[in-house]
This record gives sequence, structure tokens and C-alpha cells, in this order.
Amino acid sequence: MPTSVDQLLSTYHNQNVTSFRLFTRAQSSLPGGNTRTGVFFNPFPVYIRRGEGVHTTDVDGNTRLDFVNNATALILGHGHPKVVDALQNRIGHGTAFFGPTEMEIELAELLKERVPSMERVRFCSSGTEAVMNVLRVARAFTGKTRIAKFEGAYHGIDDPAMISYLPPLSNALGPESEPHSVDSSKGLAPGTAESVVVLPFNDAAASEAIIRKNADNLAAIIIDPLSTASGLTLPHPEFIQSLRDVTRELGIVLIFDEIVSFRMSSGGTQSVFGINPDLTCLAKVVAGGTAGGAFGGREDIMSIYDPTKGTPGIPQSGTYNGNPIAMVAGLTTLREMGETAYAQLNDFTANLCKALKEAFDNAGVVASVAVAGSIFRIYFLEQLPENYRQAVLDDSDKHRWLYLWLLNNGIVIRQGGAPSFPMTENHASQLVDETRRALKEWPF
Ligand SMILES: Cc1ncc(COP(=O)(O)O)c(C=O)c1O
Repeated sequence: MPTSVDQLLSTYHNQNVTSFRLFTRAQSSLPGGNTRTGVFFNPFPVYIRRGEGVHTTDVDGNTRLDFVNNATALILGHGHPKVVDALQNRIGHGTAFFGPTEMEIELAELLKERVPSMERVRFCSSGTEAVMNVLRVARAFTGKTRIAKFEGAYHGIDDPAMISYLPPLSNALGPESEPHSVDSSKGLAPGTAESVVVLPFNDAAASEAIIRKNADNLAAIIIDPLSTASGLTLPHPEFIQSLRDVTRELGIVLIFDEIVSFRMSSGGTQSVFGINPDLTCLAKVVAGGTAGGAFGGREDIMSIYDPTKGTPGIPQSGTYNGNPIAMVAGLTTLREMGETAYAQLNDFTANLCKALKEAFDNAGVVASVAVAGSIFRIYFLEQLPENYRQAVLDDSDKHRWLYLWLLNNGIVIRQGGAPSFPMTENHASQLVDETRRALKEWPF
């Protein structure tokens, strides 16, 4: 029997009365009851009380299997015993100081070892800050002013990152091979759109032509190699290689935003593709489920932050840069996630995606499933999209229906997900079995 989205919403309301009450209360202290746009859900979001391993429990007592893991950040799931122990041991000795600690050296050394292109590392408090810093240091190093990014891509919320971020399809976007820069937020500093050049993902020839045309004032190109926020459009290796070649030739800084894609392997996507970017941004996994970020790269570029020879070119301060909580959580998480653990988690995700694809095929529902490392994304499209303009054709009504159906039945995905290391075959089967059950009620 097909189930309508209204029926699913009615169950959702009944299951989540306390969440609804909290959301109503939140309206008078938070704009629209919200403090993080991405977690808003219409008509109201579920308020979470706690997370334990692979599950979250909400304020109404509903426990759900969590495939979202705070937007991929929690690679070890919720409250991993080793991370909790390390944090508990740490917290009684102070949470932040006006002075360095040995832990920041340890985490920087670990990152250097795993990501050799990060010859020097700096810490900050979020992915947004990491991006803000790499764009600034690229401008400082090259003496050039403009930045290039890929259409649709997300790089946090600093002004240049808010250009052409998931823009609605319209003529304003210009030709696919030469996209226009469009504001994706109000209130950007004047001239932001003009300072950002927008490139078409996976189109090496068109991207190269735009890069060459703008080379004289282009400081950097920033790329999320897996396009994680604009779908999960996977790059052709030749496309990534062509970016490395042309940026090297033209003296443009190549930046990998590995804030999410650091999930792909212990050395990030750069080790998988065998490409050394000039700079890299990290956050999420690197802070082990706490607030933190890191960036780094070539020693000559990063030396602009060096204060030992007088006032540095860029005085990067930050009350919580390298704070012990983020350092200890990050170190414990990364030590737990050695190469074997990554391989195991990636295999788990690949098998899960294969079974999901079979479930859609057997039900006669047109869908494809993209997978990269331990990140996956379902598309209600015949073929996997190759760029933002193809990805955006996905059917959001179908995603909303499946999201609600699974949520009502104890599973959280968001068009896809990022499994955590403690998940077992039973958890994978739970998602596949529930998806099969859902598809029996598919109303489309
Ligand atoms: C690819 C990418 N870059 C940057 C960011 C911003 O990171 P943060 O939310 O820590 O500021 C995100 C966050 O989701 C991201 O997915």
C-alpha cells in the first residue's frame, strides 16, 4: 500500500511531541527556532538528548540508528569509550590555556605523517576558519586577489565560500562550461562575487580555459575533491590531475578542502589520487567530534604565519586554536582510525551501498548510489551525476519521503550518510531491510 508523505508526517508528529514543544519554545529565543541552517527540518526538527555508539536518542525517547554522524564528523560514532576516557582524563586538568600545549605538536606531527603535503600545520576552531585562513594565506603568498571555486561546492560560511553555493538552477547561472558567480547569501562584502571565479566540476578543458584567462589575478583554486556538499559527485582522476598541472604551471595555489573527504583514507583523498595540493583544510574528524579545525601545507606558504622573525605576515589568533579538548579528541580518534580501520569502514560502506542499490533495483525504483570511502549518497537518478548541475536534478520529494519513513522507523539518513566505525553487518542489514520495507509503500 502506498503511503503518502502526509501520513508519514502525521506519524512524525505523534512520535515527536516533545520535540515539537521544544521547537515552539525555541521560536522566541532563536530565529525560526534555529541556530544551524543545515539541521532545520520542516515542519520541525527532532531534538536529540544523547548519542551512544551508533544510536541517538531524542527527547521523546525514540532511539535511532544514526548514519549521519553529525554531518560525517563522528567517524567513531557517539561517545566512543576511548574518546570519552581521553576527554575525561583531560578535562579535569583544564580545557584551554593562554599558552601552547604538547598535544598540539603531537596532532600536528600525526597530520604531517599521514598527509605529507601538510609540511606545516595550524589549528583553528572550525572548517570555516580553516578555509578563511587558507584563502588569505594564498592571497598573501601570491600577491594576487581572486579565488576560484567549483559551482555548487560548500566550503563553510566565510564570504567567498558563499558564492555559487547550491545556487538554484536558472539562467542567472550562465553557461555550464563558464558558470557565473552568484551570491548565495545576503550581506556579503561588496565585490565578493567579482573576487570569486566559478569553475565547472569534472570539466578539465573548460576549467583550464577559465583558469588561464584569469591566471594573472588568481591566487588560489579551492576544491572539495568529492564535492560532498553539492551531492557526492566523484572526480575523474584526470580532472584532478589537470588542476594540479595547470596551477603548478601558472603559480596558482591549489587548495584541497578535505574537511569531509578526510574520511576517505588516513591520508585523505590526496593520498588516494596521488596528488599533493599546496594547502589542505581539515575539520570534523580531525577534532574527534569536538569543535576544531586545522589547515596547512607547503612550508614556504605557511611561513607567512611564523612569528619568530617579527610580526608575521598574517597574525592568526584564536582563543581556542589548538585547545586541549579538540587536540585530545582528535588524537584519540585518529590513532583509533589507522589504515586498517579505514579499509574496514570503507568496505563496510561499499557493501552497504551495493545492497541498497539492489534493494532499489529489485523494487523497480530508479536510483543510483554514489560511494567514496565511508560516505555515500543516494540519487533518484538513472546515472550518477558528474557535476552540480546534474546532481541538482535529483528528486527532493523522494528524498523527503524516504527520510521521513526511515526516521519514523528508527533510522537517520540524509539523502545518504557516513557510517561510523563501530557499525556492524547487523546495522547495515537494518538500513537495507527497512529500505526494502519502505519501497513496498513507495507512493511515486
Ligand atoms: C566541504 C566542507 N567545507 C567546509 C565546511 C565548514 O566546516 P565547519 O562547519 O566546521 O565550519 C564544511 C562543513 O560541513 C564542509 O562540508
